[in-house]
Amino acid sequence: MSLIGKRVVVIGGTSGIGLSAAKAFLDESAQVIIASRSEAKLSEAKNVLGGNVEAYNIDFRSEEKLADFFKMVGNFDHLVVTAGEGAMGHFSDLPVADVREAFDSKFWGQYSTVRAAIPYLNDTSSITLTSGVYGIRPPQGATTLASINSAIDGLVRGLSVDLAPIRVNVVSPGIVDTPLYGGMPDEQRQNLYSNIAQQLPVNRVAQPEDIAEAYVYLVKNGFTTGTALLIDGGAHLV
Ligand SMILES: NC(=O)c1ccc[n+]([C@@H]2O[C@H](COP(=O)([O-])OP(=O)(O)OC[C@H]3O[C@@H](n4cnc5c(N)ncnc54)[C@H](OP(=O)(O)O)[C@@H]3O)[C@@H](O)[C@H]2O)c1
Repeated sequence: MSLIGKRVVVIGGTSGIGLSAAKAFLDESAQVIIASRSEAKLSEAKNVLGGNVEAYNIDFRSEEKLADFFKMVGNFDHLVVTAGEGAMGHFSDLPVADVREAFDSKFWGQYSTVRAAIPYLNDTSSITLTSGVYGIRPPQGATTLASINSAIDGLVRGLSVDLAPIRVNVVSPGIVDTPLYGGMPDEQRQNLYSNIAQQLPVNRVAQPEDIAEAYVYLVKNGFTTGTALLIDGGAHLV
């Protein structure tokens, strides 16, 4: 399915996986609309992606802001959501409030985005959400992300039936080198990446471009719905 001239909305398209997905959709000659909270990230992303991209400031945890955003955007073809913040910490230590906050972002943010987007999509549209390999293979301290990612994978299976013929899929990444880890000192981050790389069959962590290809595939393939596409370098096996 060609994406030439198709309108693709990427919520979270200002950083990491979302920014790379936005680039990949532009390479397919789609019209790309990106959205996230930070004005600084929005203008930097516009610089990187080029002047034709529309960029909107939005916090996807707010149903009101989502409604306003989709009204401004109007009808469009494909929805991609990569926005979302998680929480790491041992089950016994992580405060319940932190877990709820993570659900409010990564799970309820994606859920509410889909609800708000439906009136503007059409029968040939697709929706692609984001979960993560911790949904099926959590290391210690990832109970919250295991729960959120599994919930998103389940949500997508349900939505693919409820929203048909709109196709609904989810990309489930392994560890990806993105600004998500930008809060870590450089050396600690590089050590984290190389420790994980040594354990993986592919011997490296992912770059955002590895994951972006999965969104393009799911948006373009008209026979794919209800699918969780695991792009994890084999992390679920080791
Ligand atoms: N990187 C990994 O290793 C990895 C592994 C598995 C799964 N994932 C998942 O992949 C997704 C993307 O991760 P990433 O590594 O690309 O992270 P990232 O570089 O931090 O990008 C996250 C994007 O989401 C936006 N965002 C966050 N909260 C938002 C909100 N409330 N409303 C609107 N936009 C919001 C951010 O922009 P603003 O700050 O401007 O809002 C940013 O554009 C996340 O769901 C993450 O859990 C990542």
